[in-house]
Amino acid sequence: MTIPALPESSRSAGMTTPLIERFRDRLPVTERTPVVSLGEGSTPLLRADRLADAAGIRELWLKWEASNPTGSYKDRGMTVAVSKALESGAEAVICASTGNTAASAAAYATRAGLPAVVLTPRGAVSGAKLAQTRMLGATVLEIRGDFDEALAAAQELGSRGSHVLVNSLNPDRRAGQTTAVFEIVEELGAAPDALVLPYGGGGNTSSYAQALEALGLDLPIVSVEAAERRTTMATAIRIGDPVHAGSVRDSGALVVSATDEELVAAWRRLAAEEGLFCEPSSAAGLVALLRGDVEGDRVVVTITGHGLKDPASADRYAPAPVVVEPDPDAIVALSQRESARRAP
Ligand code: F0G
Repeated sequence: MTIPALPESSRSAGMTTPLIERFRDRLPVTERTPVVSLGEGSTPLLRADRLADAAGIRELWLKWEASNPTGSYKDRGMTVAVSKALESGAEAVICASTGNTAASAAAYATRAGLPAVVLTPRGAVSGAKLAQTRMLGATVLEIRGDFDEALAAAQELGSRGSHVLVNSLNPDRRAGQTTAVFEIVEELGAAPDALVLPYGGGGNTSSYAQALEALGLDLPIVSVEAAERRTTMATAIRIGDPVHAGSVRDSGALVVSATDEELVAAWRRLAAEEGLFCEPSSAAGLVALLRGDVEGDRVVVTITGHGLKDPASADRYAPAPVVVEPDPDAIVALSQRESARRAP
């Protein structure tokens, strides 16, 4: 038996079709663009009936972006931004980040053979994200300042021409991020009644709006920001001054806010009731849905990043483990007590 050779497009990421190949006709790439891929995109769209019941809607679908290679939706944009940077002869990439863009930039730059410089607000990023980024070979510089100041510095270096900026101000990043909506519409076979997602800097909301425009669809986007933008425990979206605020406004997205208490409650429910462990910011969309802010009977909520991105928060909020002797009767008694305690 002979095994047929894999098509060129599959080789760059094992058997997985790279996002750039799946959506080549809708992305700013040509045959000359080197495809830098880690097997991103094509993420699961999962039905969630328990939370749909809780929200009083017929169908809830969760776009599980945590299954991207670095654990967040950032990889969709990063494959395009880094491929284009490589094509343009870039010598290095730079970004400011609350952690996920950092890890994604580090991974794709390494894949491309380019150095990456990452600026993070000191003391305000999950240690797991920093460790991931450091492992992936980026130079991590902790800024004495907040995310907005880090972004201003990254933009300035980007404009000097020495580094390509791979934040979502880069249009190639945003183009890559449109593909989540293409997948949702393709897989549902029709447009849902609404798309719901977290709102930090607003790059993803802008990308979703851009995708709907490209598809000629007019449906509501609900973007959920932290009520306490500058101090929220959901550090991924701890951004005081969203750089895409103007385009979010122009897109017509409905912007609502979620308190930390609401974020934590929705985040824990998603894990305990649907088996999906995301990071706290990623549950922002669910807050709006469960509160009744979203109109429609068939709703897609995007879950943007994995729970293992922020294990310290999980450790703080999840029920503590219970210590027991290796005695079967004691184990039965304790496990019955514990599951009764956890019953909804
Ligand atoms: N969800 C996660 C998991 C994020 O990491 C971010 C932003 C957002 C939602 C918000 O998306 O900024 O496009 O509105 N993270 C950026 C970062 C700021 O540096 O990783 P947005």
